[in-house]
Amino acid sequence: MLDVFKTSKNKKENNEIVLDKNNIPKHIAIIMDGNGRWAKKRKLPRTMGHKAGVETIRRVIKEAHVLGIKYLTLYAFSTENWKRPDDEVSALMKLLVEYLRSELAELNRNGVVIKVLGDITKLPTDAQKEILEAIEVTKNNTGVVVNIAFNYGGRDEIIRAVKLVCEEVKCGKIDSEDINEDIFERFLYTRDIPDPDLIIRPSGEQRISNFLLWQCAYSEFWYSNVCWPDFKEEHLRKAIYDYQHRDRRYGGV
Ligand code: FPP
Repeated sequence: MLDVFKTSKNKKENNEIVLDKNNIPKHIAIIMDGNGRWAKKRKLPRTMGHKAGVETIRRVIKEAHVLGIKYLTLYAFSTENWKRPDDEVSALMKLLVEYLRSELAELNRNGVVIKVLGDITKLPTDAQKEILEAIEVTKNNTGVVVNIAFNYGGRDEIIRAVKLVCEEVKCGKIDSEDINEDIFERFLYTRDIPDPDLIIRPSGEQRISNFLLWQCAYSEFWYSNVCWPDFKEEHLRKAIYDYQHRDRRYGGV
């Protein structure tokens, strides 16, 4: 057993949470929700909520490393988020660029592998450049794989995969009779990444919002009322603790 209190100094409230280190979820995916409400409560612009959300990203990646989580997927910008006011969209693009610029060296030192899920060709050139550089610089690392879902939508991902499979069928590389789940998954953004064991959504909302629709088939869900900027290491541990006390049957008995 892993006594998480020993791994985290000065956090008395974690006394109770003891995790089973043999049952740490391999892949945790997070819908980073509640930045706007966090900011509104403090009479701040929404973009300040997103900025505060970046601090949470830093904390969560560090904690994922401590706990031995292998894959962490963060939903940062959905295919629907383009509907937000232009200044908010620009601020989110800017935050991504700033985050990668300021953090890449440290992430790399810590062995983090950066991957991106989503169509990045629609992003501003500087964002595309930073993303491609982060992927390239970290590709041979062996630590936590951080998948940033940016301009990502589950339906969009599935349609894209269907089109790619159709092309392979058209040119004779795949026989349509042979299409199965394994073959289909090779065309998703998440190829080579296991399905999420646990999906976390803070901020009190309990919906999937077009996130990992194919991959969430047997994921466990965990919700919390805290907004993303207030999400702390102990919330992550509590989510894992609850996960470890669930019975995953995958449709069996
Ligand atoms: C949802 O909260 C949050 C987002 C749409 C953006 C999340 C982005 C970040 C945390 C930072 C940028 C990302 C990176 C990788 C640097 P909301 O705005 O919908 O909150 P609300 O529901 O309270 O309005």
